[in-house]
Amino acid sequence: MLFNPTQIGTLALPNRLVRSATAERLADEKGRPRPQLKPLWQALARGGVGLIISGHMYVHPSGKCHPEMIGIYSDELIEPLSEMVEAVHQEGGRIAAQVNHGGMQSGGEHVETALIPSAVQADWLRRPVREIRPGEIEETIQAYAQAARRTKLAGFDAVQIHGAHGYLISQFLSPFTNRRKDKWGGDIQGRTHFLRAVCAAVRQEVGPDYPLLIKLGLMDGMEGGLTVAESLQVAAALEGMGLNAVEISGGIAGGRNLNTRPKIRRPEDEAYFRPQARLVRAATNLPLILVGGLRSRQVMEDILDSGDADLISLCRPLICEPDLPKRLQADQKRAACISGNRCWPDGPDEGIACKCRLD
Ligand SMILES: Cc1cc2nc3c(=O)[nH]c(=O)nc-3n(C[C@H](O)[C@H](O)[C@H](O)COP(=O)(O)O)c2cc1C
Repeated sequence: MLFNPTQIGTLALPNRLVRSATAERLADEKGRPRPQLKPLWQALARGGVGLIISGHMYVHPSGKCHPEMIGIYSDELIEPLSEMVEAVHQEGGRIAAQVNHGGMQSGGEHVETALIPSAVQADWLRRPVREIRPGEIEETIQAYAQAARRTKLAGFDAVQIHGAHGYLISQFLSPFTNRRKDKWGGDIQGRTHFLRAVCAAVRQEVGPDYPLLIKLGLMDGMEGGLTVAESLQVAAALEGMGLNAVEISGGIAGGRNLNTRPKIRRPEDEAYFRPQARLVRAATNLPLILVGGLRSRQVMEDILDSGDADLISLCRPLICEPDLPKRLQADQKRAACISGNRCWPDGPDEGIACKCRLD
Protein backbone atom coordinates (compact mmCIF):
# COMPACT_ATOMS: atom_id res chain seq x y z
CA MET A 1 0.00 0.00 0.00
CA LEU A 2 2.72 2.46 0.99
CA PHE A 3 4.05 2.62 -2.53
CA ASN A 4 0.70 2.65 -4.34
CA PRO A 5 -0.26 5.86 -6.11
CA THR A 6 -3.05 8.05 -4.82
CA GLN A 7 -4.76 11.36 -5.47
CA ILE A 8 -5.44 14.55 -3.49
CA GLY A 9 -7.97 16.53 -5.49
CA THR A 10 -6.38 17.05 -8.89
CA LEU A 11 -2.91 16.17 -7.62
CA ALA A 12 -1.64 12.67 -8.46
CA LEU A 13 0.89 11.25 -6.00
CA PRO A 14 3.16 8.30 -6.75
CA ASN A 15 3.01 6.90 -3.19
CA ARG A 16 1.41 7.42 0.22
CA LEU A 17 4.33 9.10 1.97
CA VAL A 18 4.20 12.80 2.83
CA ARG A 19 6.83 15.04 4.33
CA SER A 20 4.86 16.83 7.04
CA ALA A 21 5.42 20.59 7.20
CA THR A 22 8.77 21.28 8.85
CA ALA A 23 10.04 24.80 9.53
CA GLU A 24 13.44 24.63 7.85
CA ARG A 25 14.71 27.83 9.48
CA LEU A 26 16.43 28.82 6.24
CA ALA A 27 15.10 32.27 5.36
CA ASP A 28 16.54 35.76 5.75
CA GLU A 29 15.01 38.52 7.87
CA LYS A 30 12.53 39.38 5.11
CA GLY A 31 11.42 35.76 4.81
CA ARG A 32 13.28 35.16 1.53
CA PRO A 33 14.56 31.60 1.23
CA ARG A 34 18.29 31.14 1.71
CA PRO A 35 20.19 29.17 -0.95
CA GLN A 36 20.53 26.16 1.44
CA LEU A 37 16.78 25.55 1.22
CA LYS A 38 17.11 24.35 -2.37
CA PRO A 39 19.36 21.33 -1.70
CA LEU A 40 17.25 20.44 1.35
CA TRP A 41 14.05 20.25 -0.72
CA GLN A 42 15.88 18.60 -3.62
CA ALA A 43 17.17 15.85 -1.32
CA LEU A 44 13.61 15.18 -0.15
CA ALA A 45 12.36 15.00 -3.73
CA ARG A 46 15.20 12.66 -4.73
CA GLY A 47 14.52 10.57 -1.63
CA GLY A 48 11.18 9.53 -3.07
CA VAL A 49 8.57 11.11 -0.77
CA GLY A 50 5.24 11.42 -2.59
CA LEU A 51 4.51 14.97 -1.43
CA ILE A 52 6.69 17.51 0.35
CA ILE A 53 4.92 20.07 2.51
CA SER A 54 7.06 23.15 3.09
CA GLY A 55 7.74 24.60 6.52
CA HIS A 56 5.07 27.07 7.61
CA MET A 57 5.25 30.41 5.81
CA TYR A 58 3.90 33.63 7.29
CA VAL A 59 1.05 35.22 5.40
CA HIS A 60 1.44 38.64 7.05
CA PRO A 61 4.31 40.33 8.91
CA SER A 62 2.13 40.37 12.05
CA GLY A 63 2.05 36.56 11.93
CA LYS A 64 5.77 35.76 11.72
CA CYS A 65 6.46 33.12 14.36
CA HIS A 66 10.24 32.94 14.66
CA PRO A 67 13.46 34.06 12.96
CA GLU A 68 14.33 32.38 9.65
CA MET A 69 10.68 31.60 8.89
CA ILE A 70 9.82 31.71 5.19
CA GLY A 71 7.51 34.53 4.14
CA ILE A 72 4.66 34.49 1.62
CA TYR A 73 3.22 37.91 2.53
CA SER A 74 4.43 39.85 -0.52
CA ASP A 75 4.55 39.36 -4.29
CA GLU A 76 8.31 39.92 -4.08
CA LEU A 77 8.61 36.48 -2.51
CA ILE A 78 7.06 34.67 -5.48
CA GLU A 79 10.14 34.68 -7.66
CA PRO A 80 12.70 33.39 -5.13
CA LEU A 81 10.27 30.68 -4.04
CA SER A 82 9.49 29.65 -7.60
CA GLU A 83 13.19 28.92 -8.09
CA MET A 84 13.08 26.48 -5.15
CA VAL A 85 9.88 24.85 -6.39
CA GLU A 86 11.35 24.46 -9.86
CA ALA A 87 14.31 22.60 -8.35
CA VAL A 88 11.91 20.15 -6.65
CA HIS A 89 10.06 19.59 -9.92
CA GLN A 90 13.33 18.98 -11.76
CA GLU A 91 14.01 16.15 -9.31
CA GLY A 92 10.57 14.70 -10.10
CA GLY A 93 9.03 15.80 -6.77
CA ARG A 94 5.82 17.57 -5.78
CA ILE A 95 5.56 20.26 -3.13
CA ALA A 96 2.77 22.00 -1.23
CA ALA A 97 3.20 25.29 0.66
CA GLN A 98 1.99 25.51 4.24
CA VAL A 99 0.59 28.96 5.02
CA ASN A 100 0.27 30.28 8.55
CA HIS A 101 -0.30 33.21 10.87
CA GLY A 102 1.18 32.82 14.33
CA GLY A 103 -1.40 34.85 16.28
CA MET A 104 -0.30 34.70 19.93
CA GLN A 105 2.79 32.75 18.92
CA SER A 106 4.05 35.49 16.59
CA GLY A 107 7.42 36.93 17.44
CA GLY A 108 9.06 38.25 14.33
CA GLU A 109 11.17 41.39 14.24
CA HIS A 110 8.07 43.56 13.71
CA VAL A 111 5.86 41.96 16.33
CA GLU A 112 5.88 43.60 19.75
CA THR A 113 2.33 42.75 20.70
CA ALA A 114 1.00 39.51 19.27
CA LEU A 115 -2.59 39.21 18.04
CA ILE A 116 -4.92 36.66 19.64
CA PRO A 117 -8.71 36.07 19.38
CA SER A 118 -9.18 36.97 23.08
CA ALA A 119 -6.59 38.59 25.35
CA VAL A 120 -6.28 35.69 27.79
CA GLN A 121 -3.71 35.66 30.57
CA ALA A 122 -1.40 32.67 30.63
CA ASP A 123 2.11 32.32 32.04
CA TRP A 124 3.22 30.48 28.90
CA LEU A 125 2.52 33.40 26.56
CA ARG A 126 5.89 34.46 25.22
CA ARG A 127 5.02 38.15 24.74
CA PRO A 128 2.21 40.63 25.37
CA VAL A 129 -0.96 39.85 23.41
CA ARG A 130 -3.81 42.01 22.18
CA GLU A 131 -7.28 40.97 21.03
CA ILE A 132 -7.46 41.04 17.24
CA ARG A 133 -10.01 43.60 16.01
CA PRO A 134 -12.76 42.72 13.47
CA GLY A 135 -11.05 44.81 10.76
CA GLU A 136 -7.76 43.00 11.39
CA ILE A 137 -9.56 39.65 11.18
CA GLU A 138 -10.83 40.57 7.70
CA GLU A 139 -7.35 41.75 6.72
CA THR A 140 -5.80 38.51 7.92
CA ILE A 141 -8.31 36.40 5.99
CA GLN A 142 -7.32 38.29 2.86
CA ALA A 143 -3.66 37.75 3.74
CA TYR A 144 -4.23 33.97 3.68
CA ALA A 145 -5.99 34.29 0.33
CA GLN A 146 -3.19 36.39 -1.17
CA ALA A 147 -0.61 33.99 0.21
CA ALA A 148 -2.40 31.09 -1.48
CA ARG A 149 -2.49 33.02 -4.76
CA ARG A 150 1.28 33.52 -4.45
CA THR A 151 1.94 29.85 -3.74
CA LYS A 152 0.08 28.96 -6.93
CA LEU A 153 2.01 31.56 -8.92
CA ALA A 154 5.28 30.27 -7.47
CA GLY A 155 4.42 26.85 -8.89
CA PHE A 156 3.63 24.95 -5.66
CA ASP A 157 1.46 21.93 -6.43
CA ALA A 158 -0.91 22.57 -3.53
CA VAL A 159 -1.42 24.71 -0.46
CA GLN A 160 -1.90 23.56 3.12
CA ILE A 161 -3.62 25.78 5.67
CA HIS A 162 -2.06 25.42 9.12
CA GLY A 163 -4.93 24.83 11.52
CA ALA A 164 -2.99 23.18 14.35
CA HIS A 165 -0.36 23.68 17.08
CA GLY A 166 -1.80 26.82 18.67
CA TYR A 167 -1.32 29.19 15.74
CA LEU A 168 -4.04 31.67 14.78
CA ILE A 169 -6.60 29.28 13.24
CA SER A 170 -6.10 26.86 16.10
CA GLN A 171 -6.52 29.78 18.53
CA PHE A 172 -9.86 30.67 16.94
CA LEU A 173 -11.03 27.06 17.28
CA SER A 174 -9.97 26.80 20.91
CA PRO A 175 -12.42 27.84 23.66
CA PHE A 176 -9.40 28.73 25.82
CA THR A 177 -7.99 31.38 23.47
CA ASN A 178 -11.27 32.38 21.80
CA ARG A 179 -13.80 33.79 24.27
CA ARG A 180 -15.23 36.30 21.83
CA LYS A 181 -18.87 37.29 21.96
CA ASP A 182 -19.05 38.46 18.33
CA LYS A 183 -19.58 36.26 15.24
CA TRP A 184 -15.98 34.97 15.43
CA GLY A 185 -16.53 33.26 18.77
CA GLY A 186 -19.10 31.39 20.82
CA ASP A 187 -19.83 27.70 20.30
CA ILE A 188 -17.74 25.53 18.00
CA GLN A 189 -19.76 26.73 14.99
CA GLY A 190 -18.86 30.32 15.83
CA ARG A 191 -15.23 29.48 16.58
CA THR A 192 -15.00 27.74 13.19
CA HIS A 193 -16.16 30.90 11.42
CA PHE A 194 -12.60 32.19 10.92
CA LEU A 195 -11.46 28.92 9.36
CA ARG A 196 -14.50 28.88 7.08
CA ALA A 197 -13.79 32.44 5.98
CA VAL A 198 -10.12 31.66 5.33
CA CYS A 199 -11.00 28.59 3.24
CA ALA A 200 -13.62 30.49 1.25
CA ALA A 201 -11.25 33.38 0.54
CA VAL A 202 -8.42 31.03 -0.42
CA ARG A 203 -10.65 28.97 -2.72
CA GLN A 204 -11.92 32.14 -4.38
CA GLU A 205 -8.32 33.20 -5.11
CA VAL A 206 -6.90 29.87 -6.34
CA GLY A 207 -9.91 28.58 -8.27
CA PRO A 208 -11.76 25.26 -8.01
CA ASP A 209 -8.97 22.90 -9.10
CA TYR A 210 -6.00 23.88 -6.96
CA PRO A 211 -5.47 21.26 -4.24
CA LEU A 212 -6.18 22.63 -0.79
CA LEU A 213 -5.16 20.76 2.35
CA ILE A 214 -5.45 21.49 6.04
CA LYS A 215 -3.44 20.41 9.06
CA LEU A 216 -6.07 20.33 11.77
CA GLY A 217 -5.35 20.25 15.48
CA LEU A 218 -7.92 17.98 17.10
CA MET A 219 -7.27 18.81 20.74
CA ASP A 220 -5.33 21.32 22.80
CA GLY A 221 -4.31 18.94 25.57
CA MET A 222 -5.01 21.49 28.30
CA GLU A 223 -7.79 22.35 30.72
CA GLY A 224 -10.49 24.42 29.02
CA GLY A 225 -9.06 23.80 25.55
CA LEU A 226 -10.39 22.28 22.33
CA THR A 227 -11.61 18.70 22.65
CA VAL A 228 -11.83 15.94 20.06
CA ALA A 229 -15.63 15.90 20.40
CA GLU A 230 -15.76 19.50 19.18
CA SER A 231 -13.08 19.19 16.53
CA LEU A 232 -14.91 16.25 14.96
CA GLN A 233 -17.63 18.74 14.06
CA VAL A 234 -14.97 20.84 12.35
CA ALA A 235 -13.63 17.76 10.54
CA ALA A 236 -17.14 16.93 9.31
CA ALA A 237 -17.45 20.40 7.81
CA LEU A 238 -14.12 20.46 5.94
CA GLU A 239 -15.33 18.97 2.68
CA GLY A 240 -18.04 21.62 2.51
CA MET A 241 -15.33 24.26 2.97
CA GLY A 242 -13.74 23.16 -0.31
CA LEU A 243 -10.80 21.27 1.17
CA ASN A 244 -9.28 18.24 -0.56
CA ALA A 245 -7.45 16.49 2.29
CA VAL A 246 -6.98 16.68 6.04
CA GLU A 247 -3.83 15.95 8.05
CA ILE A 248 -4.53 15.55 11.74
CA SER A 249 -2.43 16.67 14.67
CA GLY A 250 -2.90 18.21 18.11
CA GLY A 251 -1.47 20.34 20.88
CA ILE A 252 -1.37 24.06 21.59
CA ALA A 253 1.36 26.23 23.07
CA GLY A 254 1.06 25.90 26.82
CA GLY A 255 -0.50 22.48 26.66
CA ARG A 256 1.24 19.14 26.92
CA ASN A 257 3.62 18.40 24.06
CA LEU A 258 1.18 16.32 22.06
CA ASN A 259 2.75 17.18 18.74
CA THR A 260 6.44 16.23 18.77
CA ARG A 261 6.44 13.43 21.34
CA PRO A 262 9.88 12.21 22.31
CA LYS A 263 11.36 8.72 22.48
CA ILE A 264 9.30 6.85 19.91
CA ARG A 265 11.22 3.58 20.09
CA ARG A 266 8.70 0.69 20.04
CA PRO A 267 5.84 0.05 17.61
CA GLU A 268 3.38 0.68 20.53
CA ASP A 269 4.73 4.26 20.82
CA GLU A 270 4.17 4.97 17.14
CA ALA A 271 1.22 6.67 15.41
CA TYR A 272 0.06 8.53 18.50
CA PHE A 273 -2.91 10.14 16.75
CA ARG A 274 -4.21 6.85 15.32
CA PRO A 275 -7.17 6.56 17.75
CA GLN A 276 -8.28 10.05 16.71
CA ALA A 277 -7.75 9.19 13.02
CA ARG A 278 -10.39 6.48 13.33
CA LEU A 279 -12.88 9.07 14.62
CA VAL A 280 -12.02 11.58 11.90
CA ARG A 281 -12.32 8.82 9.32
CA ALA A 282 -15.93 8.32 10.38
CA ALA A 283 -16.61 12.07 10.22
CA THR A 284 -15.30 12.91 6.72
CA ASN A 285 -14.75 11.35 3.31
CA LEU A 286 -11.66 13.46 2.65
CA PRO A 287 -8.30 11.73 2.18
CA LEU A 288 -6.85 11.45 5.67
CA ILE A 289 -3.17 12.06 6.35
CA LEU A 290 -1.76 10.73 9.63
CA VAL A 291 1.30 12.30 11.25
CA GLY A 292 2.92 11.78 14.64
CA GLY A 293 5.49 9.16 15.52
CA LEU A 294 5.29 7.00 12.40
CA ARG A 295 8.57 5.12 12.26
CA SER A 296 8.34 1.54 11.03
CA ARG A 297 7.19 0.26 7.70
CA GLN A 298 5.06 -2.39 9.38
CA VAL A 299 3.03 0.14 11.39
CA MET A 300 2.64 2.37 8.32
CA GLU A 301 1.39 -0.53 6.20
CA ASP A 302 -0.96 -1.66 8.94
CA ILE A 303 -2.50 1.82 9.18
CA LEU A 304 -3.09 1.94 5.44
CA ASP A 305 -4.40 -1.65 5.29
CA SER A 306 -6.82 -1.02 8.15
CA GLY A 307 -8.15 2.08 6.42
CA ASP A 308 -7.42 4.26 9.46
CA ALA A 309 -5.61 6.72 7.15
CA ASP A 310 -4.85 7.13 3.44
CA LEU A 311 -1.43 8.73 3.66
CA ILE A 312 1.47 8.58 6.11
CA SER A 313 3.21 11.80 7.05
CA LEU A 314 6.69 12.15 8.55
CA CYS A 315 8.64 15.07 9.92
CA ARG A 316 11.58 14.17 12.17
CA PRO A 317 12.50 10.95 10.32
CA LEU A 318 12.97 12.91 7.09
CA ILE A 319 15.24 15.44 8.78
CA CYS A 320 17.41 12.51 9.70
CA GLU A 321 17.05 10.53 6.47
CA PRO A 322 15.63 12.53 3.55
CA ASP A 323 15.85 9.39 1.44
CA LEU A 324 13.87 7.26 3.91
CA PRO A 325 11.08 6.52 1.39
CA LYS A 326 13.59 4.91 -0.97
CA ARG A 327 15.19 3.03 1.91
CA LEU A 328 11.82 1.72 3.10
CA GLN A 329 11.00 0.67 -0.42
CA ALA A 330 14.28 -1.22 -0.58
CA ASP A 331 14.63 -3.21 2.63
CA GLN A 332 14.99 -0.85 5.61
CA LYS A 333 12.34 -1.70 8.19
CA ARG A 334 12.40 1.38 10.35
CA ALA A 335 13.41 5.03 10.38
CA ALA A 336 16.72 5.75 12.12
CA CYS A 337 15.08 8.68 13.99
CA ILE A 338 14.98 8.18 17.78
CA SER A 339 12.73 11.21 18.37
CA GLY A 340 15.29 12.86 20.63
CA ASN A 341 13.94 16.24 19.51
CA ARG A 342 17.31 17.73 18.70
CA CYS A 343 16.34 18.84 15.18
CA TRP A 344 16.00 22.58 15.83
CA PRO A 345 19.00 24.82 15.08
CA ASP A 346 21.27 25.90 17.95
CA GLY A 347 22.23 29.17 16.29
CA PRO A 348 21.29 31.48 13.43
CA ASP A 349 21.79 30.35 9.81
CA GLU A 350 22.18 26.69 10.76
CA GLY A 351 18.83 25.36 9.61
CA ILE A 352 17.27 22.14 10.86
CA ALA A 353 19.47 19.08 11.21
CA CYS A 354 19.47 15.78 13.07
CA LYS A 355 21.81 16.13 16.07
CA CYS A 356 20.77 12.97 17.94
CA ARG A 357 23.26 10.18 18.55
CA LEU A 358 21.84 7.38 16.52
CA ASP A 359 24.04 4.48 17.60
C1 LIG B 1 11.96 20.92 13.55
C2 LIG B 1 10.46 20.84 13.43
C3 LIG B 1 9.76 21.80 12.72
C4 LIG B 1 8.38 21.70 12.56
N1 LIG B 1 7.72 22.64 11.81
C5 LIG B 1 6.39 22.51 11.57
C6 LIG B 1 5.73 23.40 10.68
O1 LIG B 1 6.31 24.32 10.12
N2 LIG B 1 4.41 23.19 10.48
C7 LIG B 1 3.72 22.17 11.08
O2 LIG B 1 2.53 22.00 10.83
N3 LIG B 1 4.33 21.31 11.91
C8 LIG B 1 5.65 21.44 12.15
N4 LIG B 1 6.28 20.52 12.95
C9 LIG B 1 5.52 19.36 13.45
C10 LIG B 1 5.65 18.19 12.47
O3 LIG B 1 5.16 18.49 11.19
C11 LIG B 1 4.91 16.93 12.95
O4 LIG B 1 3.55 17.22 13.10
C12 LIG B 1 5.48 16.39 14.27
O5 LIG B 1 6.90 16.53 14.31
C13 LIG B 1 5.14 14.90 14.49
O6 LIG B 1 5.61 14.10 13.42
P1 LIG B 1 6.96 13.20 13.52
O7 LIG B 1 6.79 12.28 14.67
O8 LIG B 1 7.00 12.49 12.19
O9 LIG B 1 8.09 14.13 13.72
C14 LIG B 1 7.67 20.62 13.15
C15 LIG B 1 8.36 19.67 13.90
C16 LIG B 1 9.74 19.76 14.03
C17 LIG B 1 10.46 18.68 14.80
